[in-house]
Amino acid sequence: MAKGKVDALLGIVFGDEGKGKVVDCFTPKYDIVARFAGGPNAGHTIIFEGKKFVLRSIPSGIFDEGKVNIIGNGCVIAPDLFMAEAKELEAAGYDLKSRLHISKRAHLILPTHRVLDRAYEAAKGKNKVGTTGKGIGPTYSEKAARTSLRVGDILENFSEKYAALKSRHEQILKDLHYTDYDITEEERLWLEGVEYMKSFPLTDTEIELHKALKAGKSVLAEGAQGTMLDIDHGTYPFVSSSSTCSGGVCTGLGVAPNAIGEIFGIFKAYSTRVGSGPFPVELFDETGDKIREIGNEYGAVTGRNRRCGWVDLVALKYAIALNGVTQLIMMKSDVLDTFDTIKACVAYKKDGVVTEDMPYDTEGWEAVYEELPGWKTDLTGLTSPDQFPKAFQDYIDYLEKALETPITIVSVGPDRAQTISRA
Ligand code: IMP
Repeated sequence: MAKGKVDALLGIVFGDEGKGKVVDCFTPKYDIVARFAGGPNAGHTIIFEGKKFVLRSIPSGIFDEGKVNIIGNGCVIAPDLFMAEAKELEAAGYDLKSRLHISKRAHLILPTHRVLDRAYEAAKGKNKVGTTGKGIGPTYSEKAARTSLRVGDILENFSEKYAALKSRHEQILKDLHYTDYDITEEERLWLEGVEYMKSFPLTDTEIELHKALKAGKSVLAEGAQGTMLDIDHGTYPFVSSSSTCSGGVCTGLGVAPNAIGEIFGIFKAYSTRVGSGPFPVELFDETGDKIREIGNEYGAVTGRNRRCGWVDLVALKYAIALNGVTQLIMMKSDVLDTFDTIKACVAYKKDGVVTEDMPYDTEGWEAVYEELPGWKTDLTGLTSPDQFPKAFQDYIDYLEKALETPITIVSVGPDRAQTISRA
């Protein structure tokens, strides 16, 4: 962590890498924690003082009383869901109103965006993206089409602007013959959420960040989703609609590339994916089920089964290069404690072609594996790297060599204390 810099903490595969726990360990070191992309499609599970919270739009620095938290311009925000999330935290005793600053340039997810999300998915038939249904795609589409509403819009003539956009959405839904929906109650809560949001500092967060950086403050940019879900670089069209990579930190917070310091890339000791789309390392057998069960791999937002597989070095190498990852953080190593052998995908193959580079069309590729011995040891009680069993240390060395990037933190369990630094 350097003063006057923005460090980024990014999930570098398909999201759900366990960023919540790490951010929570990191926040004491930073003055400001900021979200730069995505919205309530994220679900960062944090266990704090024995209580479990799932954060969707609010940055994980919120548990640290002294910190300023920012929802940046690159985010999309649903006022009703934001209100529910914030009120839960307030009820648990956290003061939010003075410490949570929301960019006036962040875009609003309307209830009708969520209906559109469902309608577009239904129209796609078997090519469904498997979205979280939170209206993410329709909102970012309208941002690009320049027809969307921003947080700053709630401060002036909002009813008219809202009614106009809602009626446009209703017309689109009619054209799609998607008319069997009722948003009455949702809309009531949403409008209540809009009023509630007005009690928060709605600011020009990029200017706030420029001033803070100039004054030598440190900022942690908290990623959401993962690199392979990035709108440009992920497995398109099976992606989310925002820039989840380190480039998105600059556009989503309004900070310059030379303000970026360290880039921490988080991955799990194995792989998971929710929703549809190519996933060459997916295991359809008992091993996949075992990883899911031990790792409790069920979606934080939708409760869906996560698809599970071995670690994917093709995806990781690609993500490290795209993001400029300077340090890796390996999560959930303990989930593999009982496996006799561990596999790592080192290449993809299709029709006699073998590649170590991420292909344009990831559909239909099979994983090529290398096999390593399992460590068959309970890692959960370990507190320092010198206690690592040899086979686990070998796995780390193997990954570091293949990825040409140091793994500086290893997580061996859900608790904060089960986070081991190797730096
Ligand atoms: P959307 O972001 O709701 O549009 O969903 C697009 C794709 O991204 C779907 O496959 C989702 O399952 C996936 N996705 C969105 N947010 C997350 C996340 O926080 N973790 C993992 N997958 C996500």
